[in-house]
Amino acid sequence: MKSEEFIKFSDPMKLFSSWISEAKEKEVNDYNACCLATCDAAGIPSARMVLIKTFDERGFVFYTNLHSRKAKEFERNVRVALCFHWKTIRKQIRIEGPLLELPKNEADKYFESRPRESKIGAWASKQSSHLPEGYQSLEKNIKFYENKFKNKTIPRPSFWSGRIVVPEKIEFWKDVKNRLHERVLFKTDNEKWLKEYLYP
Ligand SMILES: Cc1cc2nc3c(=O)[nH]c(=O)nc-3n(C[C@H](O)[C@H](O)[C@H](O)COP(=O)(O)O)c2cc1C
Repeated sequence: MKSEEFIKFSDPMKLFSSWISEAKEKEVNDYNACCLATCDAAGIPSARMVLIKTFDERGFVFYTNLHSRKAKEFERNVRVALCFHWKTIRKQIRIEGPLLELPKNEADKYFESRPRESKIGAWASKQSSHLPEGYQSLEKNIKFYENKFKNKTIPRPSFWSGRIVVPEKIEFWKDVKNRLHERVLFKTDNEKWLKEYLYP
């Protein structure tokens, strides 16, 4: 009953590439969104959505504020998990592994490509901190940075950067009728990928 593609692919990054291309074509919004799970020092988990902006042989890249709750958690515990789910194509991908810092020059290059308003937003948002005067505090910060960077190039804030999720496990899940879903798990072993099938 195994799908052709589960049999055919021995490199999970290639299978990921194939599924994300399909999602890009068919998903209405944010085909590259996935849930990122982190754990605090006491082992208490938390999860939120992020966008995976690129992926390559190193892993999966997302960007965030390094003072945010997630960053405080992953700075202490670099082991994280990602979960993609695409409703339109009824597929899920789960990824687990440690985080690596994205080289600063790559983060600079990505930041440079963002619209000016998003750059100001990155400076103005103290992501995950309490807003003392409600939304006004954010508007005040936006005005402040618009003024500060008026007619100037906006540099990447040092507290905003990218991280790479280095996959040690990647599991692909595909909907099959009668809940007899297909699952294939890839695990790294001495830089090789081992493949196994799982019960639904
Ligand atoms: C579809 C979607 C994509 C998102 N992408 C990102 C992202 O790439 N980076 C980010 O920091 N927050 C992103 N967010 C916001 C986060 O889910 C979250 O609210 C924020 O990062 C604060 O999380 P934290 O308090 O756990 O650090 C996204 C939210 C949604 C719904």
